[in-house]
Amino acid sequence: MPMTVTKAIFPVAGLGTRFLPATKAQPKEMLPVVDKPLIQYAVEEAYAAGVREMIFVTGRHKRAIEDHFDMTFELELALEQAGKRELLEVVRSVKPDDMECIYVRQAQALGLGHAVLCAQRLVGDEPFAVLLADDLMVGEPPVLQQMVQQFDEWQASILAVQEVPAEHTRRYGIVAGRSVNERLVDVAQIVEKPAPEAAPSRLGVAGRYILTPGVMREIAAQPRGVGGEIQLTDGIASLLRREKVFAYRYQGKRYDCGSKEGFLQANVELALQHPELGAGFRAFLSSLDA
Ligand code: G1P
Repeated sequence: MPMTVTKAIFPVAGLGTRFLPATKAQPKEMLPVVDKPLIQYAVEEAYAAGVREMIFVTGRHKRAIEDHFDMTFELELALEQAGKRELLEVVRSVKPDDMECIYVRQAQALGLGHAVLCAQRLVGDEPFAVLLADDLMVGEPPVLQQMVQQFDEWQASILAVQEVPAEHTRRYGIVAGRSVNERLVDVAQIVEKPAPEAAPSRLGVAGRYILTPGVMREIAAQPRGVGGEIQLTDGIASLLRREKVFAYRYQGKRYDCGSKEGFLQANVELALQHPELGAGFRAFLSSLDA
């Protein structure tokens, strides 16, 4: 039986220090881009790719995420009584009926690999996706769906990659390998956040992964890596010795919403594309140029 991807892990336990004070009392994943929190973009992308079981690896002060994907009885009742059907639909569609949300707690912030490992028992013997909500991906079809198509074909782990400037290799997992076609690379090497002179290529991993369950065992065996953290990249590097791993140059755009600059760019570009706000916002922006 071919493997299919029905589960996704969302590591959301980070402190979000880069956005203080905005993230002092709320998770960074709840920061809105235009009118939707970052985490909802990632969940919608996973849902569009066929994922129905959403596993959130949370930490302290993350209650808002659980509340967001829960039913809001009083709000729905008030909207219903006020006859605000469109808004009611907006609220209800946050969690479609066939979507399941599961929360696991990462007691200690020991790194991305450790966060993924916290979901080991929930994932069991199945492949799974990992989505980092900081990376807002805009693509058609949605980026994770493109990756699921690759996974269905190759039945092996798929990492989303993009060319990054040489001076930015320290921000990413960097992969190198043999090109299979214009979008796919058979990965021979992956290194976490190398210096430009040590980077084996300029192909940087974006925050989307589809991984085979075997990676959990590899992560569990990792010593602490870059930054004293248990790195997902190191687990994937070990997996490479046993299984094929492919890097996929996705079609679409990534906004690094872990940085203020990327977050602002996402807000501006998505506002310009917004069906109700776009035209007025464009006029506003050009009035600034004048
Ligand atoms: C993480 C991963 C890194 C990856 C990046 C994508 O780093 O460790 O390999 O390239 O996400 O956004 P972080 O941005 O959490 O430091």
